[in-house]
Amino acid sequence: MKGLILAGGTGSRLRPLTYTGAKQLLPVGNRPILFYTVDDMVRAGVRDIGVVVGETSNLIEAALGNGERFGCHFTYLPQEAPLGLAHAVKIAQPFLGEEPFLMVLGDNLLRGGVAPLVQRFQDRHPAAAVLLTEVRDPRQFGVAVVDDGRVVQLVEKPEHPPSNLALVGAYCFDARIHEAVSSLRPSWRGELEITDAIQWLVDHDEPVDAALVTGWWKDTGRPEDVLDANRLILEDLEPRMDGRMDDASSLTGRVVVAKGAVIERSTVRGPAIIGEDATIIDSYVGPYTAIGAHVHLSGVEIEHSVVLPNSQLEEIEDRIDQSLIGQGVHVRGRQGRPKSIRLVLGDQSRIEL
Ligand code: TTP
Repeated sequence: MKGLILAGGTGSRLRPLTYTGAKQLLPVGNRPILFYTVDDMVRAGVRDIGVVVGETSNLIEAALGNGERFGCHFTYLPQEAPLGLAHAVKIAQPFLGEEPFLMVLGDNLLRGGVAPLVQRFQDRHPAAAVLLTEVRDPRQFGVAVVDDGRVVQLVEKPEHPPSNLALVGAYCFDARIHEAVSSLRPSWRGELEITDAIQWLVDHDEPVDAALVTGWWKDTGRPEDVLDANRLILEDLEPRMDGRMDDASSLTGRVVVAKGAVIERSTVRGPAIIGEDATIIDSYVGPYTAIGAHVHLSGVEIEHSVVLPNSQLEEIEDRIDQSLIGQGVHVRGRQGRPKSIRLVLGDQSRIEL
């Protein structure tokens, strides 16, 4: 069975971080989201993996390499524009050939992994198997109606959802999907929709099986989702102290301090992770916070946040909460008069004061 990871797209909801980075490489627990997806695939026994890439192809390729370090092999498949998930399948067809494949979205995280989905597909040989989860508000998802383990109807972002079962970004297909994809027309948003392709299979009496997510699922499309995913990943943190800490500092709960990190006169309350060579001076790092490599904090209180590598936060009066801070950012509090703030912000930055 082959694998297909979708790592192109626009990432417009994560601007400005996606002006310079790929959303699939945003870190949760100080590790790119995409790496968890690859591990999941390899764990499910899939080793020959095509990676659909777009504008950020150079970043994705630099991060993933040839696959050796993950125990798999990657083939990069450039997509000329983000024309939809089914379009990604279309351009991957020469790589996939007639083989069945597991497709996952590179910005989705699954706690229970994809192995149960693959197992179901391999046991029952349907044309497709999709992963579903119950959601509170199905109107923003692809929604499935299931009868006795079989999908009987699919609707994309329905105004009146026929069920609360949403499609999660993991699917198994056999070669019948290529015929479905080739018969599609672009949707109202100009994309070839994978839900339409799966509906085509249903309409042509091809069996589509449904499996339910075990554990949790998180789509990391928006900043608050990345913070949520970070929280979920940090829940499972195994404490480790590979850095240095002085006597005036304390670590409580599950905390990972990476090699070269230094903590002085500070409190770190887990679950939290401090990246390689980070320095935490006169600061408080609270629960569900990931501090990236080479980050410098001094005179700062921060919690429920993700700070990407090489940023500096200094002498800030208010506690930083639920924040997603990019690479090489410099935030410094100002003392004295006049009491004013100075900002140099990139396009589409968001701050709340
Ligand atoms: P989406 O989150 O649906 O789309 P997007 O990345 O363009 O984000 P936004 O809506 O914020 O602009 O994409 C899900 C995953 O699939 C993500 O990893 C990007 C990838 N993708 C492709 O590889 N090719 C495509 O044509 C599309 C639409 C998405």
